[in-house]
Amino acid sequence: MSFFSEIFSNKRKEPPVTLLKDYSSVVTDIHSHFIPGIDDGVATIEESMQLLRSMYNLGFKKFITTPHVMDSYPNTNEIIQHGLEEVREAIVHENIPITISAAAEYYIDSSFLKKVKEEKLLTITGNTVLVEISYINLPDKLTEVLFEMRLNGYNILLAHPERYPFWYTNFDEYKQLKDQGILFQLNINSLCGYYGVPAMKIAERLIDENMIDYIGSDIHGTRHLQGLKQSLKSKHLAKLVGRGVLNQQL
Ligand SMILES: [Fe+2]
Repeated sequence: MSFFSEIFSNKRKEPPVTLLKDYSSVVTDIHSHFIPGIDDGVATIEESMQLLRSMYNLGFKKFITTPHVMDSYPNTNEIIQHGLEEVREAIVHENIPITISAAAEYYIDSSFLKKVKEEKLLTITGNTVLVEISYINLPDKLTEVLFEMRLNGYNILLAHPERYPFWYTNFDEYKQLKDQGILFQLNINSLCGYYGVPAMKIAERLIDENMIDYIGSDIHGTRHLQGLKQSLKSKHLAKLVGRGVLNQQL
């Protein structure tokens, strides 16, 4: 390559990114399962404290924990609030310098539709509600549920859009959701390949196309810690956080 062509090609390269050392610049994790015994997250308060201390050591200072709400985990606002108080008391006792609040990760099905119409949903911030859908089939009632949520004044935040294989071959589906104003929360561990190569590739493309609003650990147990360390080596993570995620505004 000649001197001039080298200069020319360098101009077209992406600017160099500095990898993250830890998650301190993200500040707040908005997706996790730290309340013991109410979903498939931590089983005991001891496990919850061990995990929160590890997350603090990785740089996180604030947490909005999001227990599953679905038929198999019929958590109510009261159950979640009660569990949050138990976690808060233990944090004070263990002297971990973090703050924690709770919302939920709502699974979209017909029972959720009923909740949207009849109950007050727990929000991440403002009117923003975290939802997930089946990994296997696109729910038939998706359009109706999203419509009903908007009608009731909620902003919709879709958890881990990169984990739904039925969209992998039709990226335009993601664009259509974004055009409807739906926010996307990426799982950090998707960037180290924890959920497989296809999920990692889609995660990277969603970042490249500037479609990610929030990131989250979606941590359920110690098995997810290694991936969070591994993902710090991801240039895409550095690019996304460097550009800014809404976590930093909470
Ligand atoms: Fe989750």
